[in-house]
Amino acid sequence: MSETLLTIEDLVVQYRQGRKKVVKAVDGVSLTVAAGEFVALVGESGCGKTTTAQTAMRMVPATSGTIRYRDRDITNATQSEMRPIRRELQIIFQDPYESLDPRFRVKDIVAEPLEIHGLDNRDERVRAAMERAGLTPADLYLERYPHELSGGQRQRVSIAAALALEPTMLLADEPVSMLDVSVRAGILGLLNDLRTSGLGILMITHDLSTAAHFADRICVMYLGRIVEEGPAHEVIRNPQHPYTKALVSVVPQPDPEQSMQPEILQGETPNPADVPTGCRFHPRCPVATAACSSEDPPLRPAGSDGHRAACILV
Ligand SMILES: Nc1ncnc2c1ncn2[C@@H]1O[C@H](COP(=O)(O)OP(=O)(O)OP(=O)(O)O)[C@@H](O)[C@H]1O
Ligand code: SF4
Ligand SMILES: [Mg+2]
Repeated sequence: MSETLLTIEDLVVQYRQGRKKVVKAVDGVSLTVAAGEFVALVGESGCGKTTTAQTAMRMVPATSGTIRYRDRDITNATQSEMRPIRRELQIIFQDPYESLDPRFRVKDIVAEPLEIHGLDNRDERVRAAMERAGLTPADLYLERYPHELSGGQRQRVSIAAALALEPTMLLADEPVSMLDVSVRAGILGLLNDLRTSGLGILMITHDLSTAAHFADRICVMYLGRIVEEGPAHEVIRNPQHPYTKALVSVVPQPDPEQSMQPEILQGETPNPADVPTGCRFHPRCPVATAACSSEDPPLRPAGSDGHRAACILV
């Protein structure tokens, strides 16, 4: 068994809007990521994916619940207590156009985390990280500015800056959604290679087909909760929650015989400031029963290898 790196237990994150309104961005999420494991957190816009990742990095405070990195409880860690953890747990953002400072050359961008953490042998570490991120030969890129790079190359620079500290885990928040389709597979393949070399990866995506292709495990999130989780192939081939079934139904299949009837969800887009009673999916669920508006189903076993779903029909 590989070591568990990140453990999130029953995480709740609420934002206040005005004096009374509470946005339940994350409403009881538990998940783990082990060394060498690629976990995808999937769900539609606004379901709380980024908030989950940012809370794990202590960029946003948890309202309740626990976050552990290896054997350390970091739920309430101070910025200085987070310093050594940040070396190990790095985040890659969605937009490589925004996340790279246009005034700095690539070599300075990749060296910056090393400077912050006071590490020496910077030139060597910068080159090694760049080559690991697929910017080879490093000499070709070191002196360039971000505007002299393509979108895919920029995202590789962000990944190199994250790798410079030789982390044990990466949180990647929609790492390819801003990139041209033609370069997405290269970046995802790079993350996959890093996982093979032992890093734990938590990738946030709204794209179930990307998750299906690269992840070991998929966690499907709906309105602040994980409603289904399990081995990627199980969740895709044998989805149990009606929400996952709807997501899977619109994933294009290479074999048209296996295509499902696309299921377009009806009803209003969910609002985390006004979470429905009972099963939070009931206003949009095509198979809801009367009990669904009062019963809030927990995750229950729904198959082998930790496949679980939160639906009273499971
Ligand atoms: N600082 C904030 N203050 C108030 N509400 C917030 C704040 N940040 C996020 N939210 C709300 O919390 C909910 C979850 O947001 P989050 O960004 O985590 O979703 P997401 O799943 O990452 O969505 P996307 O796919 O669009 O990035 C949303 O309704 C969002 O509007
Ligand atoms: S509990 Fe009811 S509303 Fe919720 S997913 Fe299952 S059938 Fe649908
Ligand atoms: Mg997000």
